[in-house]
Amino acid sequence: MAQDVVVVGLGYVGLPLAQEASRAGMRVLGFDASADVVDGLNAGKSHVDDLTDADVSEMVNHGFEATTDSSRISEAKVAVICVPTPLSNDGLPDLAYVKSAAGAIAENLNPGMLVILESTTYPGTTDEILRPILESTGRRAGEDFHLVFSPERIDPGNEKFGAKNTPKVVGGHTPACADAAVDFYGKFIDKVVKTSGTREAETAKLLENTYRHINIALVNEMAQFCHELGIDLWDVIDAAKTKPFGFQAFYPGPGVGGHCIPIDPNYLSHNVRAKLGYPFRFVELAQEINATMPQYVVRRAQDILNDDSKALRGSTVLLLGVTYKPNIADQRESPAVPIAKLLLNAGANVQFHDPFVAEWDAMAGRVTRAEQPEKAVEEADLTILLQNHSDYDIPALAAASQEFFDTRGKAPRGDRVYRL
Ligand SMILES: NC(=O)c1ccc[n+]([C@@H]2O[C@H](COP(=O)([O-])OP(=O)(O)OC[C@H]3O[C@@H](n4cnc5c(N)ncnc54)[C@H](O)[C@@H]3O)[C@@H](O)[C@H]2O)c1
Repeated sequence: MAQDVVVVGLGYVGLPLAQEASRAGMRVLGFDASADVVDGLNAGKSHVDDLTDADVSEMVNHGFEATTDSSRISEAKVAVICVPTPLSNDGLPDLAYVKSAAGAIAENLNPGMLVILESTTYPGTTDEILRPILESTGRRAGEDFHLVFSPERIDPGNEKFGAKNTPKVVGGHTPACADAAVDFYGKFIDKVVKTSGTREAETAKLLENTYRHINIALVNEMAQFCHELGIDLWDVIDAAKTKPFGFQAFYPGPGVGGHCIPIDPNYLSHNVRAKLGYPFRFVELAQEINATMPQYVVRRAQDILNDDSKALRGSTVLLLGVTYKPNIADQRESPAVPIAKLLLNAGANVQFHDPFVAEWDAMAGRVTRAEQPEKAVEEADLTILLQNHSDYDIPALAAASQEFFDTRGKAPRGDRVYRL
């Protein structure tokens, strides 16, 4: 075979995986449905935060090639699916990308091929959705080809843990399938952990994300009543986290964003409801609490202005940081969008600044970008820190603001500085 592996879907997940495999000396082909993505990569341009243009050029120099030609999948021994798994408009799992990637692999399935799904999804997807598409070729999983689920754990922007040093979980359709995946990933990932089957690996990923989702909801709910009770929750968390066992610190914020936390737990709760007919109550409650945070932030903004005898209508509100996490450009599901919309609906003049966002597409034309945050904070009636990018000198920005509402607990406490 000409290629050791084809990575199907070259985004935040697929590209770092392709990079590690290429670094380990494997022959890596990338297949993506987007011609823009493919052309960019072949020209040495990165479109994800975790890889620079130089990283992509290095891959290309080592023989990496991207293509939109699905027939080339047949050149590879291993196919890894890293395509999006969003929610549909009615909030249900949308597996259209997985099905289409599976169809492309089925048309090019070779005997002995190892097919791995990495996209986050509900338990049973590998066995009930992917396997039938691949077996429509007449080949049998576990006999003619290997089938595995291995959840992606990438954390964009994390400088400590990347694809190589984050343990990889693999669940095989058969024990031999799992062994084939251990062999494959073991060539470029430090530690590979087997589960008893594909469903366990699928559920492990959802447990990880649901755990974060629920714990964030817990502190978001506490933030609201602690404010009413005059208790500084940030101080509470700092104290609690000195316990060396049995506690992990989570922090409140303006809402949950990104591709995983607001979306993945829905896959699990949907699956529990659809298969068993009852709700996954923890997830649904967490969803409800986290979803109300943008409204809560706007209500607090209104209260701060009210104390200055100002209304939201006509006030200038500056939003600092509109991405969903610090130090990256990813804006997917960012709570900054509902917050900006609520402020606009209330009649505020909304401005934003973000060192990573030149054009805020989601709010196109409705919100202007402040070019100099140091100056803009002086002019705005209220500044709201939504994301603590390390580029920001938060104490200086807070000191220069008329009013500073800090949803990240980073500004020094003081007059005219309010924490969530
Ligand atoms: N981004 C993260 O932080 C993260 C972390 C863990 C898990 N995940 C999961 O990993 C999966 C992929 O997410 P992502 O962030 O890499 O998505 P992404 O949108 O960054 O990239 C997906 C890529 O797949 C391509 N694509 C779509 N359909 C295709 C098809 N049929 N064939 C080939 N290419 C196709 C798209 O053009 C895009 O380039 C999702 O299930 C997600 O939930 C993401």
